[in-house]
Amino acid sequence: MITTLPRERCAEAVALWHAAGLTRPWNDPDADLGRALDGPSSTVLAATAGERLVGTVMVGHDGHRGWLYYLAVAEEHRRRGVGRALVAAAERWLGARVPKVQLMVRDDNAAAVAFYERLGYARQDTTVLGRRLDTEGGVERVAPRTPDVSDGPPLTSTGAPRGPRRPRRGGR
Ligand SMILES: CC(C)(COP(=O)(O)OP(=O)(O)OC[C@H]1O[C@@H](n2cnc3c(N)ncnc32)[C@H](O)[C@@H]1OP(=O)(O)O)[C@@H](O)C(=O)NCCC(=O)NCCS
Repeated sequence: MITTLPRERCAEAVALWHAAGLTRPWNDPDADLGRALDGPSSTVLAATAGERLVGTVMVGHDGHRGWLYYLAVAEEHRRRGVGRALVAAAERWLGARVPKVQLMVRDDNAAAVAFYERLGYARQDTTVLGRRLDTEGGVERVAPRTPDVSDGPPLTSTGAPRGPRRPRRGGR
């Protein structure tokens, strides 16, 4: 059965993500999960078998296309169609809201690419670029606030425009 993840099962979902190798030290899966459940354009879907949480997928959209994150199936439930069913449910959720879906797969996860190709997904002729917004060398935190249209480039203490910041670490 696939439903929205009940909040009381968040710890189980994060444990599943750890076990499935989806977490990285520079990401906070609890915070990711909270934001996805709280936001109006995202959610986390959960597959259960009896009482057991056996799979998850996070879905969200930006108004143009949808994204999939944290697709995970418990190891002993793999190769039984749970992953396919989760992606189908994610596509239904997103398809009611936006016309396209995509996802990122880490370069060392050939199995996930093979899985998604079985489901009809294809590599896109696109380069994904990214940077962090929350830290700079672990020193400066950018306080969350509503951007203003008058925002210009950040200035140094002398008033000169600041050059591009060096990304701290990889991480998606
Ligand atoms: C990827 C994952 C979600 C697949 O879940 P699953 O429940 O085993 O997948 P399904 O049983 O629904 O498989 C669907 C199809 O993909 C194929 N498939 C599944 N895993 C595959 C693999 N490792 N290599 C090749 N094909 C695979 C299945 O054979 C099936 O094909 P078919 O229906 O045409 O026979 C699961 O292996 C997993 O949790 N992996 C660890 C986490 C991860 O890497 N997530 C993706 C992050 S981008």
